[in-house]
Amino acid sequence: MENNLEVKIPEIVLNSGHKMPVIGFGCAVIPPPPLEELVTIFIQAMENGYRQFDTASAYGTEEAVGKAVAKALEIGLIESRDELFITSKLWPCDAHYELVLPAIKATLSKLGLEYLDLYLIHWPVRLKQNANIKHLVEGDVLPFDIQGTWKAMEECCELGLTKSVGLSNFTCEKISKLLQNATIPPAINQVEMNVCWQQRKLLPFCKEKGIRVCAWSPLGAYGNYWGNNEVLENQVLQDIAAAKRKTVPQVALRWIYEQGASIVVKSSNSERMKQNMQIFGWELAEEEKQKIFQIPQRRTFRADRYVQPNGPIKSAEEFWDGDL
Ligand SMILES: NC(=O)c1ccc[n+]([C@@H]2O[C@H](COP(=O)([O-])OP(=O)(O)OC[C@H]3O[C@@H](n4cnc5c(N)ncnc54)[C@H](OP(=O)(O)O)[C@@H]3O)[C@@H](O)[C@H]2O)c1
Repeated sequence: MENNLEVKIPEIVLNSGHKMPVIGFGCAVIPPPPLEELVTIFIQAMENGYRQFDTASAYGTEEAVGKAVAKALEIGLIESRDELFITSKLWPCDAHYELVLPAIKATLSKLGLEYLDLYLIHWPVRLKQNANIKHLVEGDVLPFDIQGTWKAMEECCELGLTKSVGLSNFTCEKISKLLQNATIPPAINQVEMNVCWQQRKLLPFCKEKGIRVCAWSPLGAYGNYWGNNEVLENQVLQDIAAAKRKTVPQVALRWIYEQGASIVVKSSNSERMKQNMQIFGWELAEEEKQKIFQIPQRRTFRADRYVQPNGPIKSAEEFWDGDL
């Protein structure tokens, strides 16, 4: 896949047989700016070579992604929708067997598309249909129906509404449970992954199962309410970046790529979008990777909002099956 920077973006082949660019554009722009501004950001991302777009019903950006796709076709930035890889996600309020099909149809309608490339279960959580995520009250968190939810995801695939299906924020234990009854294996598990949370347990497990790990918050979500500066101001990365004449974000993203994971990264700034793509054609030395391995490890996004004393998730430790 070529772009105007003449960077060749590697593609991987998922276990579904479909190809996916290894780096994608994160569409969680929070708080979302006005629609037209968002469309401009996504068009800029395409101009800078991004062909994979990661949205979700929860982000409120599906409509803008759809408008950007339509505009890109209109102005000849792309020749066909098939040149793009579009991901969206099922929100926990829709993680009820009978609500999955209406949810993907609503997503496709907002996007103005006939199919998704990838549909993910956003969290291994089921909420009451009308629960307000900002003010969850007792009783809003329900036991997660792993089997029924996945069966409905498989049906979305069989109906041609999505080419691949996958997971997000699933632990090894939850994936093992899901695989016991799955007909279609998940293609992707999209999780928090960066130099400060290297997913040392999940990554080898997913590799062994043929499930690709995709890293969210690869730069530590700097500037977002769920993020911090621990990646971008990390001294180890600063030293490596200075020695290699790269930027800290480039070193952080390159490290993920070298671990065999794919990436979704967000920037609203054209220069930074460009910079984040320039991670190919060079590599980290073994001793640099050793130094990165020494960085203290800590999960940032603990998902405490789903923890309720009388609910099915009693602690963050339980939710992450001890891996935090
Ligand atoms: N599945 C899930 O549960 C889940 C959870 C979180 C995120 N995600 C996905 O992952 C995507 C990316 O993760 P994220 O948005 O959390 O965090 P991220 O990509 O690690 O960081 C984004 C932040 O870094 C800044 N940034 C980007 N490039 C930079 C650069 N070269 N130099 C300095 N700052 C830079 C951006 O600011 P500017 O915009 O000002 O450049 C933005 O504030 C999301 O958009 C979303 O699609 C998924």
